Amino acid sequence: MRDFLIAPSILSADFARLGEEVSAVLAAGADVVHFDVMDNHFVPNLTIGPMVCQALRNYGITAPIDVHLMVQPVDRMIADFAAAGASIITFHPEASTHIDRSLQQIRDAGCQAGLVFNPATPLHYLDYVMDKVDVILLMSVNPGFGGQSFIPSTLDKLREARQRIKQSGRPIRLEIDGGVKVENIAEIAAAGADMFVAGSAIFNQPDYAQVIRAMRDELAK
Ligand code: DX5
Ligand code: ZN
Repeated sequence: MRDFLIAPSILSADFARLGEEVSAVLAAGADVVHFDVMDNHFVPNLTIGPMVCQALRNYGITAPIDVHLMVQPVDRMIADFAAAGASIITFHPEASTHIDRSLQQIRDAGCQAGLVFNPATPLHYLDYVMDKVDVILLMSVNPGFGGQSFIPSTLDKLREARQRIKQSGRPIRLEIDGGVKVENIAEIAAAGADMFVAGSAIFNQPDYAQVIRAMRDELAK
């Protein structure tokens, strides 16, 4: 696996041409497809569900699909997304009544499991579940919409999360989501992130390969 993973968020893709868009961004050098699931309840927006994940698999997408669940309740979506071809499933701890059980369900379904932290959600939800977490996803915007600005206090939180990962001794990915762009990706990586979600920064440009190359150049500095 690469040291740094770039995960375009398809929230900013053209949904009318989703298969082509995902193929294009992968051909442009992306590593992972970030799939934002919103329910107009946990977050104030409504997006896509397991049928669309399955449709991407049927279209021939073989890259890992990183399903970011912004839904409440969480549990009944897990089996459906696992069956639809999800590789990673993450959820917000506030949205699950039984966090340990939800993590275990994801792993039992054969996916990697992760917790997502809103900008003001403390990391202490990790205290007793580090052994069941494959990914820690820090939100650097309040979830619901693409195209928002990176919240600077997330940099300190990344450092704290990186410290926790180090102490655990486990190969946990530290993912960042919201407001990531060429101009700030190096600083975000320096704070500890190794998996970068970017929606508008990639899909709002005509040349996806050029943006991803520029991000990788920043990460190599
Ligand atoms: C926000 C989503 C993000 C979003 C990121 O709720 O979880 O994945 O698409 O979009 P940008 O990169 O435009 O901030
Ligand atoms: Zn997301």
